[in-house]
Amino acid sequence: MSDPNDQPLVIFTPSGKRGRVAPGTTVLAAARQLGVDLDSVCGGRGICSKCQITPSYGQFSKHGVTVHEDALSEWNKVEQRYDDKRGLKQGRRLGCQACIQRDVVLDVPPESQVHRQVIRKSADTRPMVMDPATRLYFVEVAEPDMHEPSGDFERLATALKEQWKVEAVTADPSFLAKLQGVLRKGDWQVTVAVHADHTGATPRVLDIWPGLHEGGLFGLAIDLGSTTIAAHLTDLETGEVKAASGLMNPQIRFGEDLMSRVSYVMMNPGGEKELTAAVRGALADLAKALAKEAGISPDLIVEATIVCNPVMHHLLLGIDPTELGQAPFALALSEALSLPAGDLDLTTINTRARTYILPCIAGHVGADAAAVSLATAPEMSDELMLVIDVGTNAEILLGDKSRVLACSSPTGPAFEGAQISSGQRAAPGAIERVEINPETKEPRFRVIGVDHWSDEDGFAAAAASTGVTGICGSGIIEAVAEMRMAGLIDPSGLIGSAEQTGTARCEAEGRTHSYVIYDGTDEGGPKVSVTQGDIRAIQLAKSALYAGAQLLMDERGAEKVDRIVLAGAFGAHISPKHAMVLGMIPDAPLDKVTSAGNAAGTGARMALCSVAARRQIETGVGKITKIETAIAPRFQEHFVAANAIPHATAPFPELSSVVNLPTVSFNTGGDGSGGNRRRRRRG
Ligand code: FES
Repeated sequence: MSDPNDQPLVIFTPSGKRGRVAPGTTVLAAARQLGVDLDSVCGGRGICSKCQITPSYGQFSKHGVTVHEDALSEWNKVEQRYDDKRGLKQGRRLGCQACIQRDVVLDVPPESQVHRQVIRKSADTRPMVMDPATRLYFVEVAEPDMHEPSGDFERLATALKEQWKVEAVTADPSFLAKLQGVLRKGDWQVTVAVHADHTGATPRVLDIWPGLHEGGLFGLAIDLGSTTIAAHLTDLETGEVKAASGLMNPQIRFGEDLMSRVSYVMMNPGGEKELTAAVRGALADLAKALAKEAGISPDLIVEATIVCNPVMHHLLLGIDPTELGQAPFALALSEALSLPAGDLDLTTINTRARTYILPCIAGHVGADAAAVSLATAPEMSDELMLVIDVGTNAEILLGDKSRVLACSSPTGPAFEGAQISSGQRAAPGAIERVEINPETKEPRFRVIGVDHWSDEDGFAAAAASTGVTGICGSGIIEAVAEMRMAGLIDPSGLIGSAEQTGTARCEAEGRTHSYVIYDGTDEGGPKVSVTQGDIRAIQLAKSALYAGAQLLMDERGAEKVDRIVLAGAFGAHISPKHAMVLGMIPDAPLDKVTSAGNAAGTGARMALCSVAARRQIETGVGKITKIETAIAPRFQEHFVAANAIPHATAPFPELSSVVNLPTVSFNTGGDGSGGNRRRRRRG
């Protein structure tokens, strides 16, 4: 017997895994032997090209090897055929064809790794590694034999077991109805999609294609919010987002916020059925639209993951949410759910598609908060981290490696531009950034879809197509904060009169005032102003947010936080400085306030692409301490103190070091309509 040390040494990069293999071993077999993550759909038949690797030649002192030109077997006919037909990148070989003859260093490119890491733009979310529940397998199935009778499905199951070690599969009757035709069409060579998740449930064959299926597999990551529903159509092999879209939650017609929808069900027995039908219909429409946008067949969408708050969770599942409207806020079910898409009437995708609904944390803290936690990983942070997902309900997490707390706070839809006089959704034409000159009190702004500021040359021409149509969530936050910085509103939130503020932009409106940001009425356009009512709506929303965060800080015994992560559909657009001037968030160094974008959506996408992520969040939610804001005695107290801008009592030292807020008061002790001429300015 030859000395194993005489056998060729193979080193895989980037994993660094190394070992000796018998000469003549294929690279694919060597990878499997050494536990290297090298993909294969066709099982080494040289047709899927998933097993590509790049050999390196020369001297590698780091690895202690010299790789000679003949380290791998010669380029063979199968590789030539693939190269002629599809083209292989320069220097690439098919791992299932190239055999190892001498010491060699082999690089596995990201696209050849099953568990490839998906690069994320935001630094505030954890890295995502592909580990999908549904995968494709190419198999050769034995033909039927009269002398050894067995069903086509049994022979398919045997092929999966023998060729892929996928044991004991099951399938729905609708799959069996399709099976025989496809097996014969593919001449007993077929590709199947098998769903095997982390629950230990029997693997399920979802679909079958004749020959090698190269059309890919897709999934939907759905963030089902009270106001909007957003979904990402994602490639289940690469994690790449193929199309993203959103629509308004049609349940809005039954009530803008969650509690009014719960009341609708309470007042109208059986009303939950209407709400369920509305939301399910919207999901089905959204799925169809996304498949169309990406130019793929809806049948290729085989999975969907859903994150939502507890009320949406119950309404989606057809459960009466009444119990969630009253203490002790009992959920019908808090665990994660894996079920057929058809059970949710999601019939516009593959008929055998599976859905996974993330677990809820508590009666008021839903699967959306679980998804935010999955995406932002506070439990892995050394610093005390506050994560705020701004939406109709704010999901708030506070924690570090030692402990994570969570709560939900009813902010209402003001931050999304609703209940604001000139408010609108973030769409072209909406004012998204505002600056007010503290001396002249003149505003400048930017609208979505236009690169120029409103006072720059070229703005009018650039904005001609979008117009200036209203103000969106991030715009109103900046506007109110800028008004405070420019001394147009006082700490109590009262807007001063033209006389008090020295600008004619402060117009009287009955007994209160409003500040005009843009007046397009001469051209038949809208007048965009911030009214006293708008300020009040924003104050209510931000107080709820701040009070929720403060409650978690109390529980944790924390005076301050080290880091704040803003999440939410428009979290990425909120300026940290303005959020802090407003007092939406506690005081913190400005450079420690960052954005994680739509973290709930990211969490949904992680769960879609990785069963490990599902496992992680299912164990993770059990370790999160839930705080119920609705019954916490101190919530009201915190809420009232947080009504002032930025806050009645908290000192905000970090903010004071960068922003000097004028000390003004427009309260005349009466109706606030003016008369106080004393304007005090500090600094
Ligand atoms: S494993 Fe499919 S081409 Fe190599």
